[in-house]
Amino acid sequence: MNRERTIKVALAGCGTVGSGVLDIVVNRAESLACRTGVRFQVVGGLVADLSKKRSLPLDPHLLTDEPAALLSRDYDLLVEVMGGTTTARAVVLDALRAGKPVVTANKALLALHGAEVFRTAHAHSACVAFEASCAGGLPIVGAVLRGLQANRINQLVGIFNSTCNFVLTAMLDRGMTFADAVAEAQRSGYAEADPTLDVSGGDTAHKLTVLASLAFARNIEFSRIAMQGIDRLQLDDLRIAREMGYACKLLGIGRRVTNGPHAQNERLHLAVRPTLVPNAHPLAALTGASSGLWVQGDAVGETFYSGAGAGSLPTASAVVADMIEVATGATQATFNSLRIFNDQTAPAEYVDPGAPEGPFYVRFTFDSPRQDALSDLARALSDIPMRHERSHAASDRRHAVIITAPITCAELDTAVRAIASRLPLAGEPVVLPVLEV
Ligand SMILES: NC(=O)c1ccc[n+]([C@@H]2O[C@H](COP(=O)([O-])OP(=O)(O)OC[C@H]3O[C@@H](n4cnc5c(N)ncnc54)[C@H](OP(=O)(O)O)[C@@H]3O)[C@@H](O)[C@H]2O)c1
Repeated sequence: MNRERTIKVALAGCGTVGSGVLDIVVNRAESLACRTGVRFQVVGGLVADLSKKRSLPLDPHLLTDEPAALLSRDYDLLVEVMGGTTTARAVVLDALRAGKPVVTANKALLALHGAEVFRTAHAHSACVAFEASCAGGLPIVGAVLRGLQANRINQLVGIFNSTCNFVLTAMLDRGMTFADAVAEAQRSGYAEADPTLDVSGGDTAHKLTVLASLAFARNIEFSRIAMQGIDRLQLDDLRIAREMGYACKLLGIGRRVTNGPHAQNERLHLAVRPTLVPNAHPLAALTGASSGLWVQGDAVGETFYSGAGAGSLPTASAVVADMIEVATGATQATFNSLRIFNDQTAPAEYVDPGAPEGPFYVRFTFDSPRQDALSDLARALSDIPMRHERSHAASDRRHAVIITAPITCAELDTAVRAIASRLPLAGEPVVLPVLEV
C-alpha cells in the first residue's frame, strides 16, 4: 500500500471559498487521507484585513496580509481563492515562476490573463488547475478537459451565474422586483456585496471565456463576447415567456459556425444574454441558486450537468478535488500533454455580427387593453418581410408577442421599427433571443 503523503498548502484568500477549503481539509482530513492517500497541511493564509474577526480552523498566527510573506513559506501548492486580477495575478505568477502548482477559482484572472498564466506555468514546468472557476461545485472543466476529449464539441450553453438564476426565479415565482430579488440574493449569501458583475453578465462572460477556450481549443478574447445582463429585464417578459412555454434564463452560449465544408472557415458565436429557453430543454428546469451546462459533442451527443454553482462548500468541493489531482500528479500530466490551453491555441475567429442569430421573441405593448391584440398585430405585420413562427396575445390583453424565424439583428431591427410605427404602443418593443434546440 502507498504511504500517505503530506502536501503543504499556501492559501491565498480565507473568505467564502477559502474557509470552505479549510473546513474540508481540516475537519474532513481523515476521510480524505483514507480515500486519497493525501493529507493537506495549510502552512499560511493570505487575507486583506488581519484585524477581521474570523472563526477558521487555522492557527491565526499563520495568517498574513503580505503576499511575499505567504510565498516565502515552505509550501508545495498555492491555492488562490482571493479573487481580483491585480494582487491575485502577481501571487499566481510568482508561485508559478517558483515552479509551484496553482489551484485557482478565479475566472476573472483566467478570462483576462489566462494566456499569461498558462505560458508562465508551461515555462516553469508547473501546472494550473481551475475546476472551481467556471461553475463552483459542478465538475464541468474536468468534463471538457478529460471526459469529453474524444469529441469535437460543437456547442455549449450554460447557466453560469447562480445569483442571476436566483433573482429571475424570485421575480417570477414571488412577483418580486429586480431590486428586491437582488437584495434577497445578497441577504442569502448568493450575491456579492457589489452584485454588478453578476447581473451585468460580466461574471458569466468570464466563465464562458474560460470554458469555451478549452472546449473549442481557441484563444478567446473576453472583450469579443457580446454581453447583456438581467438588469433591464421586466417581469412582464418572464411571465409571458412562461405562458408561451419558455423559461427566461441568463445564458452563456458558445457555438461553432462553419460556412462551407472547410473547417478553416469556422467561426465562433459567443454571447451572454437573457434568453428564452423552451421548457423541453433541461436548462429551463433549473430554478433558484443553481447552475447548469449543456454540451453537445460529435461522438457523445448531448450531455447535461447541473447543481450548486457557487457557495462556500460546493466551490471548495471543486477546489479540493483539484488539490487532490495536483497531489496525485494527474493535473501536471494533463497540463503537459493537452494542447488546448490558450497560450498554445490559435486566436479565435468570431462570427460576423451581421450573421443570422436565430429566432427572437418580440413583445409589443399596447397603450390600452385590446379586444383582439393578435388581429391588430397581424395587420401591422401584413406587408413586412419578416417570417414569424408563432404569435401570442398575453392574458392581460395589453401585450402581443411574436417569435420570429431565424433573422439577422439588422433585419430584425428594421422590421420591429416598421411594425411599431403602425401600432398604438406604450413604450419600445422588447426583443430577446430564443434558444434553438
Ligand atoms: N463565492 C463563491 O461562491 C465562488 C464560486 C466560484 C468561484 N469563486 C471565486 O473564488 C474567489 C474567491 O471568492 P470568495 O467569494 O471566497 O471571495 P471573498 O469571500 O471576498 O474572500 C476573498 C479572500 O481573499 C482575501 N483578499 C482579497 N483581496 C486581497 C488582497 N489584495 N490581499 C490579501 N488578501 C486579499 C480576503 O481577505 P479578507 O478576509 O481580509 O477580506 C478574503 O479572505 C474569486 O475569484 C471568486 O470569483 C467564488
